[in-house]
Amino acid sequence: MANNITKTYPVSEIRALKARYDKLLSEVSLHDRLYYRENNPRISDFEYDCLKSEVERLRENLALYSMEIEDTTIGDDRDSGFQSFAHLSPMMSLSNTYSREELFQFSNHLGDTLGQRKFSYVIEPKIDGIAINLIYKRGKFFRALTRGNGTVGDDVSANIKTIRGLPLEIENDAETIEIRGEVYMDKQTFIEINKTREEQKLELFANPRNLAAGTLKTLDIDEVAERDLKLITYAIGHCSERIVNLQSEVLELLKNFGFASQGKYWIAENIEEAWKYIKELNETRHIFPYWTDGAVLKVNELQLYEILGTTTKSPRWAIAYKFAPERATTRIKNIILQVGRTGIITPVADLESVQLSGTNVSRATLHNADEISKKDIRVGDYVTVEKAGEIIPAIVAVDGTRRNADSIPFVFPKTCPSCGSQLIQLPGEVSWRCQNLCCLPQIQRRLEHFVSRTAMDIDGLGSVIIEKLMAAKKLNNIADIYRLTFNDLECLEKFGTKSALKILSNIDHSKNRPLWRLLHGFGILGIGEQTAKILANRFHSLDNLIAVTPEELEQLNGIGMKLSNAIAAFFREQHNGNILDDLRILGVIPSDRSLEFSQNQNSKFYAKTFVLTGTLSSLTRQEAVEKIEYLGGNVANVISGRVHILIAGENCGSKLEKAQSLGLEIWNETDLLENLNGVVA
Ligand code: IVH
Repeated sequence: MANNITKTYPVSEIRALKARYDKLLSEVSLHDRLYYRENNPRISDFEYDCLKSEVERLRENLALYSMEIEDTTIGDDRDSGFQSFAHLSPMMSLSNTYSREELFQFSNHLGDTLGQRKFSYVIEPKIDGIAINLIYKRGKFFRALTRGNGTVGDDVSANIKTIRGLPLEIENDAETIEIRGEVYMDKQTFIEINKTREEQKLELFANPRNLAAGTLKTLDIDEVAERDLKLITYAIGHCSERIVNLQSEVLELLKNFGFASQGKYWIAENIEEAWKYIKELNETRHIFPYWTDGAVLKVNELQLYEILGTTTKSPRWAIAYKFAPERATTRIKNIILQVGRTGIITPVADLESVQLSGTNVSRATLHNADEISKKDIRVGDYVTVEKAGEIIPAIVAVDGTRRNADSIPFVFPKTCPSCGSQLIQLPGEVSWRCQNLCCLPQIQRRLEHFVSRTAMDIDGLGSVIIEKLMAAKKLNNIADIYRLTFNDLECLEKFGTKSALKILSNIDHSKNRPLWRLLHGFGILGIGEQTAKILANRFHSLDNLIAVTPEELEQLNGIGMKLSNAIAAFFREQHNGNILDDLRILGVIPSDRSLEFSQNQNSKFYAKTFVLTGTLSSLTRQEAVEKIEYLGGNVANVISGRVHILIAGENCGSKLEKAQSLGLEIWNETDLLENLNGVVA
């Protein structure tokens, strides 16, 4: 806090402080860029907050030396692609703490300032999303602005309107009302998006908040709609009339307006009771559909807000208590190098087992060779593990002081730990790969992938059995699965007759699974479920695919030149050709559902390419896509001359106009349902 103490201090001390301040500030700006712009944070939120609070402390110290430091740490999310408008009342941030002591100090300050006035608290989950300001005029939705620099924000109305359930009208006739809330992506949607990206071998999104932030600033409204953003409101920023007296009433009012409001909040008479609820929130937050990184403690009585006032950045009537990510200390027993299906070598720390966020952690990913050398992680080290984003355990720090004198740096091998082949690094990749297709762990991972639920779905043939069958030389490639006999299985250690028969029956059943499952099961680099479905819908049989040229493949939406070449090369490869012949001889003849339906007079979907735009109210986008594909249609993302039908839901954007200008057939949701009716159960 700046004050008026004027003293003389050694210039060298001030210089040192200023130098440290500048250094930390440039670190903050680096991490801001990695976080906001590149969607690729390198440090945890906790580490970031610690950095920011040190900057804050230094700024206060420098102010003591009468050194005016401009606060450049206030973020600004504005983007040139959007028009900016002023907020009617500023969008501030919250001061935050990780310490119970500071939380109680906050409460003491409130007591000191408010004297005899009685007050209570509201405790709300702190939603880990993006702040939004929704403006309604005479009860009608008018505009949605991002926080921007707190005074002026970007107009993201079109994108906000894709949020299902956003009230376009509210029961409030104030000239203008600003409603504040948080846009977020729920845990499930985030996990599914990353799963699809993993299948497509695309880089994964680091966390849902970044993804939601990026989505909110996306110019293609259909892409925004697909991401299925959500909204929760928690405050009134500005209103031409005071309508309620308590924050708890604000939350109820917002619910009555039709907004998704805080699912759970608590009212507390004093800070001890508030602390009890904060702990309760910490214990239950894992079941919320959104990520919460803390609790927001607010004074409940709104008329006291004016008395309490604000600092330049945050109100004095609220504070965020942030939950420190759970961390634990343990020891690295070993560094294991795992060989993946595509040959990528992933280093994994084998840890002395430790409890973390309710689960036992004995492994943590070390990502890649660079990560190990950057953090100088060694076998035998004591390390701090943390569950980032509540899912993946990661090593955040190495305790150098507990390292043995004879400890040596970890040397990433130049050859495959399994087969000894030379490892290579493809251009632009940080990972090292083994390129030997006959490398046993790769074969095992390929077999595991082939039988997995999203491919041929052969229940019971798990990785342990696959490994044993490989060791017994009964299994070396996917065709061998269909050569397995009762004897092969029964010979395995501790394997009963019933289990052996069940697996054989499951294998038999898989022989006529849909073509896309077989294609996906091949594990061709870059072919996930989605591309496999596109290929199956277009080519109907393996024979057609074997004959396909890269040029023909490139005609398909979603398949670029690189992928077309990879697919064509896969089917041309001699060994693969032999395995495909074997599969046919062994009775693996995939069914082609699109052909089944092509005979169905009711199917208007067969061999047609659809684009979906806007939001559908009676089924999710994913459900619509599945039904269309089941009936032999394709779903593309972009309008082009190759598209036959546009399905236009609510709030559709430029795709509708483009489709109209191209004279495409356009269905609304009712048309879609009518055409699906009776065809899909
Ligand atoms: S009240 C002065 N309540 O956290 C701002 N904010 O780190 C008053 N946030 O900018 C905001 N959950 O975007 C409030 N229940 C909640 C919240 C919440 C998340 C966000 C908000 C704010 C940021 C501060």
